[in-house]
Amino acid sequence: MALALVTGGTAGIGHSFATQLASQGWDLVLVARDSARLNDVAAAIRTTYGRDVETLTADLANREDVMAVADRLESTESPVEMLVNNAGFGIHASLLDRDFSIQEKALDVMCLAVLILSGAAGRAMVARGHGSIINIGSSSGIITTGNYSAVKAWVNTYTEGLANELRGTGVTVTAVLPGWVRTEFHARAGINASKLPGIVWIDSDELVQEALADHAKGKVISVPTKRWNSAYWLGRHVPRCAIRWVSRKLSNSRKNP
Ligand SMILES: NC(=O)c1ccc[n+]([C@@H]2O[C@H](COP(=O)([O-])OP(=O)(O)OC[C@H]3O[C@@H](n4cnc5c(N)ncnc54)[C@H](OP(=O)(O)O)[C@@H]3O)[C@@H](O)[C@H]2O)c1
Repeated sequence: MALALVTGGTAGIGHSFATQLASQGWDLVLVARDSARLNDVAAAIRTTYGRDVETLTADLANREDVMAVADRLESTESPVEMLVNNAGFGIHASLLDRDFSIQEKALDVMCLAVLILSGAAGRAMVARGHGSIINIGSSSGIITTGNYSAVKAWVNTYTEGLANELRGTGVTVTAVLPGWVRTEFHARAGINASKLPGIVWIDSDELVQEALADHAKGKVISVPTKRWNSAYWLGRHVPRCAIRWVSRKLSNSRKNP
């Protein structure tokens, strides 16, 4: 059966990808840092869906670990047919902080690792004449809430560039731009999301169901849910000064009291 590699497949959006792909008959390679959790999630998927699940413990902020995942993607033994570059985290830090380690890590995990892994998967898939790459960007990439927006704008734009480069090769590429999704993301980053109205939140399984359907249709950009699609349209058509105003309000509302 076809094999999909999902980074950050143990929680939130990545876990939804892993379970939905397994339910559609895909075997999996799951990548994350926490080995015990990887093993638990893999065992649960094997039991529930009867699929083969390989685990790879890797910190995608570490170049050696990224290259080990890239090697797995280029391996010709049980080739990977779909890559989901999903691993990531929120950034709760000022652009003026002297300690920029979290910003550096964000660039490593959400930009450089995506570039290296997409390149490795792309080479192997082009050689076989087929394959799928899904990169998780963000609707934050069209607003201006600090470095997270900048990082996700990079993912969104990079993925469109990759889709252009791979056009006609049989390898399909989609950037998924979620709105706010209820996962561990905000608590892990220490972001206060309590003031956000209920309507902005998306269920992770609903998001992934739409993202996979959009990918199957060959869409290069997927913005799941009608309300977030409308927000995306607005974000591309209102003046940038309005985007900066909204972004300032949002950043202020997330500060912890
Ligand atoms: N939640 C949202 O509102 C939202 C909105 C837009 C976009 N996104 C994007 O969606 C993606 C998934 O986020 P999520 O909300 O599902 O977050 P989550 O619930 O916190 O899950 C993050 C996953 O990524 C893994 N991970 C984190 N850092 C890693 C690293 N350095 N190396 C390898 N794996 C790592 C985690 O496992 P380990 O901790 O074991 O490594 C976990 O499996 C991210 O790219 C995020 O930026 C999220």
